[in-house]
Amino acid sequence: MARLVVVSNRVSAPKSGTRAGGLEVAVMASLKHNPGIWFGWSGRVSVKTLETRTIESDRISFVLTDLPKEAYEEYYYGFANRVLWPILHYRLDLAEFSRQDLSGYTKVNEHFAEELHKILRPDDVVWVHDYHFLLLAKALRERGHQNRIGFFLHTPFPPVEIIAGLPHHERIISALCHYDLVGFQTEIDAANFARYVESECQYPGNRKDGYNTGERVVQIGDFPVGIETESFAKMARRAIKSSFVSGVLASLSGRAMIIGVDRLDYSKGIEHRIAAFERFLEHHPDWRNNVTYLQISPKSRSAIPEYMDMERNVSTIVGRLNGTYGEASWTPVRYVNKAHTRTALAGLYRGSRAALVTPLRDGMNLVAKEYIAAQDPEDPGVLILSRFAGAAMECKPALLVNPYDSEAVAAAIHRALSMPFEERRARYEALYKIIAANDIQDWPGRFLKALTGSPTLAASITKP
Ligand code: F6P
Repeated sequence: MARLVVVSNRVSAPKSGTRAGGLEVAVMASLKHNPGIWFGWSGRVSVKTLETRTIESDRISFVLTDLPKEAYEEYYYGFANRVLWPILHYRLDLAEFSRQDLSGYTKVNEHFAEELHKILRPDDVVWVHDYHFLLLAKALRERGHQNRIGFFLHTPFPPVEIIAGLPHHERIISALCHYDLVGFQTEIDAANFARYVESECQYPGNRKDGYNTGERVVQIGDFPVGIETESFAKMARRAIKSSFVSGVLASLSGRAMIIGVDRLDYSKGIEHRIAAFERFLEHHPDWRNNVTYLQISPKSRSAIPEYMDMERNVSTIVGRLNGTYGEASWTPVRYVNKAHTRTALAGLYRGSRAALVTPLRDGMNLVAKEYIAAQDPEDPGVLILSRFAGAAMECKPALLVNPYDSEAVAAAIHRALSMPFEERRARYEALYKIIAANDIQDWPGRFLKALTGSPTLAASITKP
């Protein structure tokens, strides 16, 4: 039987201490119905020998490889997260390109290809995740692999006018055409890539039928990632009664809570959001001392200067706001860097009157979907969502905002907190229906069908 071989930088392997963040639920859903291999970085860097080890668990083989220390830094902190990440999030101004980092990135892609080469069988289907591995299919093809290889990008993909600012984009972005299928979160991202292929690679074809590279026809698709809607809703119903969540709610002394949950990343618009909350308190003195905004932001990629600057800046503006509006008995913004479990977050979402999900740019943003799933249908909270999150393409009944417009976000906060029950319920019901119709359990099948002709690998693989 054909195996599914999933590849990502981080892997959530049991007892390994590694976690895959936002990718985890999506990858686990694909491996649940298609047993196989999850291949990725072990979480270890070495200056001497590089080990690759396998952990078997629940019909999945987790294959974890060490990376050379220097190349890892150039690949992860350098090219992936100081060049690709900002550019994919439309921030050419933040990109810090160096040839050395591109060379480390190339080395790590080659190392992954070399290790995969040792284990790949001809009928394996390979599914690569995210911007860390733009060059991987090319490196595998060079080693003779003709397997079906798909790629899914979890981040946005910007228009050609931005991506063409990436030095050597002709080599790096066009390498995606060695994949059989390149998948995106939204139709906008897919169309941006299709336009890139047409104008920069000039391969014949079109968005619907794919583009002929001479070696293969590369297909482009959009596959918006969802969540496990029903089980998340169930988790929230239980979690709100937990001692942790009850304790947080009791500590509010009857005040309404607004919640924000994001990795501490400049793409999330946390500074703009705090400014909007400040505007809200300024314009609505009646809400002072009656609402608490809880922002949970685990630190992320802290060794990168742009992230250090942002950490400092957020701490400064939170301190300033609390100093200006706070009282001895009330802290307007509770700012927490500690990571919380999914269960704790589910309970906190259910206990919040509104959620602020206002990234400046985001591939999808699953917090938005989880917040909806977690609500109590008898007293639902309101989702304030950036129009620049992928989730906004689906979640139209949310209060959609421009995150750069702090006055508009402040007005949305006021509207959310004063919204009559009937309107809250109508919006919640419409949103729940939307996220329930795109459950993550169906997502792998859609991608695999486009890649292999069949939604599961148990059925025979037809080569389109
Ligand atoms: O979704 C984007 C992504 O980079 C994932 O690939 C990753 O799992 C997550 O964000 C967290 O980022 P990092 O692995 O850099 O901590």
